[in-house]
Amino acid sequence: MAARASRKLLRDFLFRRACTTPIASARHCSSAAETAPKIPHFSKKGRLLTGTFLGLVIGGGAYVSTVDEATFCGWLFSATKLVNPFFALLDPEVAHRLGVSAAARGWVPREKRPDPSNLGLEVWGRKFSNPVGLAAGFDKNAEAVDGLLGLGFGFVEIGSVTPVPQEGNPKPRIFRLREEGAIINRCGFNSEGIVAVAKRLGAQHGKRKLDETTSTSSSSGEEVKPGGKAGPGILGVNLGKNKTSEDASSDYVQGVHTLSQYADYLVDCSLLTSSLVIFLFSC
Ligand SMILES: Cc1cc2nc3c(=O)[nH]c(=O)nc-3n(C[C@H](O)[C@H](O)[C@H](O)COP(=O)(O)O)c2cc1C
Repeated sequence: MAARASRKLLRDFLFRRACTTPIASARHCSSAAETAPKIPHFSKKGRLLTGTFLGLVIGGGAYVSTVDEATFCGWLFSATKLVNPFFALLDPEVAHRLGVSAAARGWVPREKRPDPSNLGLEVWGRKFSNPVGLAAGFDKNAEAVDGLLGLGFGFVEIGSVTPVPQEGNPKPRIFRLREEGAIINRCGFNSEGIVAVAKRLGAQHGKRKLDETTSTSSSSGEEVKPGGKAGPGILGVNLGKNKTSEDASSDYVQGVHTLSQYADYLVDCSLLTSSLVIFLFSC
């Protein structure tokens, strides 16, 4: 008798345990399946907030769809100011890396507004749509040329590129001067080397040329587009020498031979003890 009672207690206990887990209760417990489904109850305040939110989304979407591309583009550029304080909290080299990766993936705004014609200039047969360019040191390995040109720069200079890959100086090597709003950089020409950069530039060159041909064929054909070898943007390549190299001039010659085919201009950046000597060549 006692054994039967304890078996019943155990069975009841196990049944109740099984019913408390959601999957088990749905599968095995008919009592759970029979209970009426719970209808979520929204308070008046909740319904008001949801309605306001949906109204704002729909109204905002309708308004955005009426503005022209240039205005929208301006908004996108202004919105980047929101993320700047976040970047300022990061280690400067990490922030730099994130910036390059974002530009390489096209996660940066694209300037759709044409440059005013009085900003254009012609140097050595190359037509710059504006005189503001991105200096070497930002995109050292030509990862983000397209994204960076798309930001609206008149030209982008990649590098410095060394013949053989080299690590550069030990980290940390970029330092923020917060009060001055400046940075000190002692990267030491960290580079993935000529071969890696040539592969990237080769692929991008073909793509940019194709894009350019497609857009030219669809345009009226009357307008003269500013531009370099592969498209409207001018590409500069900044060549460096390896730290351990014993023949600096042969380093530069290698760079010229391998990369000049993709570049609109070349910069040879020679570090002679404390002075920086820069030579410019058109390609
Ligand atoms: C983090 C960093 C890395 C740089 N790396 C290079 C480089 O690899 N090659 C080079 O020629 N200049 C390099 N520079 C120098 C820049 O090209 C540029 O000349 C310098 O920032 C001054 O630009 P500004 O006159 O617009 O201030 C670097 C600058 C910074 C801040």
